[in-house]
This record gives sequence, C-alpha cells and structure tokens, in this order.
Amino acid sequence: MTHTLIVINIGQLVALSSGPVPRTGGAMGELGIVEDAALVAVDGEITWIGSNDDVEWAGANDILDVRGMCVVPGFVDPHTHLIWAGSREREFEMKLQGATYMEIMEAGGGIHSTVKATREAPEENMVISAMARLDHMLAAGTTTVEAKSGYGLSAEAEVKSLRALREVDKRHPSTIVPTFLGAHAVPEEFKEKGADAYIDNVIEEQLPAVVGEEDGPLAKWCDAFIEEGVFTVDQGERLFEAAKERGLGIRLHADEFVDSGAAALGAKVGAASADHLAASSDDGLEAMAAAGVTATLLPGTPFVLRSKDYARARDMIDKGMAVALATDLNPNCLIDSMPFVMTLACLQMGMTPAEALTASTINAAQCLGLDEQVGSLQVGKRADLVVLDAPNHVHLAYSLNRDVVRTVVKDGHIM
Ligand code: NIG
Ligand code: FE
Repeated sequence: MTHTLIVINIGQLVALSSGPVPRTGGAMGELGIVEDAALVAVDGEITWIGSNDDVEWAGANDILDVRGMCVVPGFVDPHTHLIWAGSREREFEMKLQGATYMEIMEAGGGIHSTVKATREAPEENMVISAMARLDHMLAAGTTTVEAKSGYGLSAEAEVKSLRALREVDKRHPSTIVPTFLGAHAVPEEFKEKGADAYIDNVIEEQLPAVVGEEDGPLAKWCDAFIEEGVFTVDQGERLFEAAKERGLGIRLHADEFVDSGAAALGAKVGAASADHLAASSDDGLEAMAAAGVTATLLPGTPFVLRSKDYARARDMIDKGMAVALATDLNPNCLIDSMPFVMTLACLQMGMTPAEALTASTINAAQCLGLDEQVGSLQVGKRADLVVLDAPNHVHLAYSLNRDVVRTVVKDGHIM
C-alpha cells in the first residue's frame, strides 16, 4: 500500500534546490525560498512541490497543516561520534579548573577513558544508548547523521561499534552514515611501540576487518585525528591511501588545535571533507579550496572547551570554500542540536543564518555523498523535513534556548 503525505499552508518553504552543489561563496546565502507552498510525498519521496492553491488532495493518508509556518530540509549532521559507552562529567569539572583537552587526554582521560568503557560495553547496550541520542537529534530536526567509531581502537572493538551502528540504522528512523575512525588516538597498549606501529595495526588488522564483514563493508568513510600529539600528516597519508584502496572515502579531523598541515593533507588525498580547521593556515585552506574539499566546522567544540579559537568561517566562504556545519557530538561535547550549532556559527563565527542553514543541509549532504537523496526539498528526494514554530528560517539561529522545531518528517512520516 502506498503512503501519501500532504503538507499544506507552508508560509515559507526553504527549497535549496537550484544551482551547483556544494554551494560556495555568495551562493551559500541563496535559499530558493517558495512562498505559500504545499508539498506532496509518496512512499517517502517528494513527488510534488507547488502553490498551496494547486495542491491535489485526493488519496492523502496524512495531511499536515503547518498554518503559515516555515518548512526547511531535515538537517544533516556530518560529524558525530554517536556510539560510545560511559560518560565524562568529571572532565567537565577539570576543564572548569583550567585543564586543557590535550592535558586531560595525555593524563589517560578524554578519549582513553571512553575507550575503556566502550571496550567493556555489550554491543546491545551501545545500540540502546546510541538510539536514545538519536531520538534527541531527530526531535531537534536532524534526519541524517554521520557516525564514527573510534572508541574501540582494536579490530574487535571497532567492529563491535560499527556493527552496533548498523543495527541502529536498521532500528531507528534516522539515516546513519558510518565512518571508521580507528586512528582516533594511540591506545594505551601501543604507548611504547608508538603511533607508527599503531597505524600499522589499523591498516593491517582493523581496516580488513571493517571492510571484510560478511554482509558488506561496515563503513563508507575512513577518518583520522591528524593533530600534534596524536597522528602526523605522514601517518594519516599512509592510512588514507590504504583505506582508498579498500574502497572507503576520506574525511579527517584537521588542525583542531595546532596547524600541522592537515588541511593540505585533506586536499592531497582527495578527502570529501576536512573538519575542525580552527588552526589551519591560509595555505592549507587554499589547497582545500582548489581541491574542492568541504570545510566542516564544529563551533560546539571550542564552545565547550572555553576557547576563543573558532574556525575562520568568513574567510573560508570568501575564499570560495564550501562550508558545512556539524555538532561533533561526543562525550566531551554533548551537543546534539543543529539549530544550536547554527546559533554558534552566527554568533561566534560570523556566518549569516542563511549560510548556516545551507551548511547544515545541502552542503552537509554533499560532503557525505548524499546530495542526490537529501539536503534540499525537491521532487525525487527523500521527504525529510522540519516544520518550524516560526514564520521564517532566521529563527533557527536567532532562537537561543527555545525549541524552534515544531514537527519533524522523516521519509514522509510524521515523527
Ligand atoms: O572531534 N578531536 C578528536 N575527537 C573528538 C573528541 C573526542 C573525545 O574527546 O572523545 C572531536 O572533538
Ligand atoms: Fe570529532
């Protein structure tokens, strides 16, 4: 039986449907707004968008009257660490006493403490906690979520996390895009042997286990934390070349605290996205722009670290780069709301509300290779959309702590 949803009385429909993808420069501010619109979706796919006066009512299973409010595409969150066990509230207190992120990590906390808890957790517990996080994300309008492993750091524990993510994707309405992040940190048992020996392990044991899974590869992307004190550009390049040979696309944590040339590495290896970029040099950014690597910015991270060093979003947009936004949801940064990230992007990085929305939808979809399916509202795409409790999209960033998301539709179903 087919299922038909009709959305009527849309005061402002943000379609984001025309022009080249990803959107760069001035085009990041062009939203393709349709006034007084209606939308029809059949079996989860948008089949018609037009004037509210012309909509065909026959055969509708669900009618959603949005009473003049604004409708935007479902948000795409292209950088999360969705799957972990344990929690790190003690480190929140340490940060308030002045400890830095890298100090906590070097003292065995941070990623290491989450690795310990994740290795011990049964797979089913990880599935359940990740689904609870996804419920909050969906309620805040996020319908597609990139999710990284990276708290296992062994073939067995990385595979467990990625299998849990595959199960989450089956059970939860949200769409999950899985990323293998075996190179997130050097685990304790490799402290003496060092990062090079650990990268050998990632390449020789973890990668084959991840892509060789019986029901197909457990990940679409390979990521690594390229940062002073974690992994070098050379180690990253070695891993990324091996991952490409095994059919994975590349994205990376680049220059979060120190410029170690990671942005340029992203350009060199043909990454879809380089993320963080708070410390990247002009040269690194220009190399990314020339190679067409999307800059995924995570303003929640400096916010929770009490840092003033935000990525230079305005320079990046002026250089003609494609910018995307993401939460970076992880146990150090418990931000699951894209509207909150849009607020930070505007207030702390000087983006406009329109640019922030583009960065959270079509550009985020493009850097995950999903722009044919999601990220804009047009015929043929998934009916993933967000009804705002507001007459225009600006309220997404403008509204600081009031929930501006009224209703979420995922694959044509009202959530
Ligand atoms: O993107 N910087 C590295 N990885 C994460 C943090 C992970 C953690 O602290 O558990 C990030 O911020
Ligand atoms: Fe991250």
